[in-house]
Amino acid sequence: MPQTALITGITGQDGSYLSELLLKKGYNVHGIVRRASIEDPVHRLHRLGHILEDIELHPGSLESYPSLYEIVRKVSPDEIYHLGAQSFVSYSFEDEFSTINTNLNGTHYMLSTFRQCAPEARFYFAGSSEMFGKVKNVPQTEDTPFHPRSAYGISKVAGFHITRNYREAYGLYTASGILFNHESPRRGYEFVTRKITSHAAAISKGKAKELILGNLDAERDWGHAQDYVHAMWLMLQKDEADDYVIATGTTNTVRKFCELAFEHVGLDYRNYVKTDSKLFRPAEVAALQGDANKAEESLGWRPTKTFQNLVIEMVEHDLAQI
Ligand code: NAP
Ligand code: GDD
Repeated sequence: MPQTALITGITGQDGSYLSELLLKKGYNVHGIVRRASIEDPVHRLHRLGHILEDIELHPGSLESYPSLYEIVRKVSPDEIYHLGAQSFVSYSFEDEFSTINTNLNGTHYMLSTFRQCAPEARFYFAGSSEMFGKVKNVPQTEDTPFHPRSAYGISKVAGFHITRNYREAYGLYTASGILFNHESPRRGYEFVTRKITSHAAAISKGKAKELILGNLDAERDWGHAQDYVHAMWLMLQKDEADDYVIATGTTNTVRKFCELAFEHVGLDYRNYVKTDSKLFRPAEVAALQGDANKAEESLGWRPTKTFQNLVIEMVEHDLAQI
């Protein structure tokens, strides 16, 4: 019997790669999408265009418990991957309330419908290294205390605790991945990596003149999204549910990312990148570096792609887009 998976946030970067992975493994793949996405597939389903025929999409809203309830009941999934979220940290400073509503209530609603309609299923929650925020240890492990620095980070800490509580209180299978930044050619343009690679490509082709960024000294542990969705799947294959840090263990600055991306198109980033204090965050997460030893020992997971290759793959993709 093929397994059935239900994914929230299926239209996003991770949702699209996870869908591909699960289809390859023979799963029936279902996704919950906003109604607007079904009405505007060209723009809003662009990451799924090549697999649209192979998956089943259900209109629903993370703000509406009844809509989620109906879908979970109908699909009766074996595995639920809850990836849907307002995922842009900067925006969470502009609209704390909708970020917390979507991310916290959305997670709570999903957990509750899972408990009501499919308690035998396995549930994955998309936790984040943003939960570590003002970090207490370097590198960060599953035991590092949380100190979130944004409404986004706070919503993820709360989601993490509710997810764990459903495991401890009701004996349900819930696992959280504490994923560090992961990127790809499918990354949204608002995130710094894609902003850099799309501008480096455009500037090299004479389509743009400069790139305005915020904090160039921020450090992130950047991996590849394809590696990271594999970790999500591995987590749900364990007999016992648990929480795992997923990271590469190496960090680089935003400045280094710029240097490599511009170098790849034969340019010196210092001639094109400018900073604007408006793009600095009110409370910044200065540096993140993960320790994924537990995932390696327990899941056999390791990242397969290097930082350098990630930058090149993204720049090449953006060059081809032009
Ligand atoms: P993404 O590309 O921004 O995708 C977010 C998804 O959530 C999209 O499908 C989006 O749907 C959906 N969504 C947003 N607001 C929604 C709402 N109000 N109702 C229903 N759906 C909504 O994010 P991603 O990079 O794939 O990340 C997936 C998950 O992992 C997120 O929970 C994110 O917070 C978490 N995470 C990401 C990273 C990372 O580095 N990528 C690291 C740690 C954790 P629309 O297409 O309709 O907008
Ligand atoms: N977006 C953006 N735009 N970030 C900039 C810019 C800019 O112009 N200039 C500098 N930065 C810095 C930010 O201040 C931050 O320190 C770093 O670049 C990375 O920013 P983002 O790419 O927006 O990602 P993020 O680290 O805030 O959040 C991502 O990773 C989290 C995991 O740690 C998102 O994917 C979150 O959803 C995810 O949880």
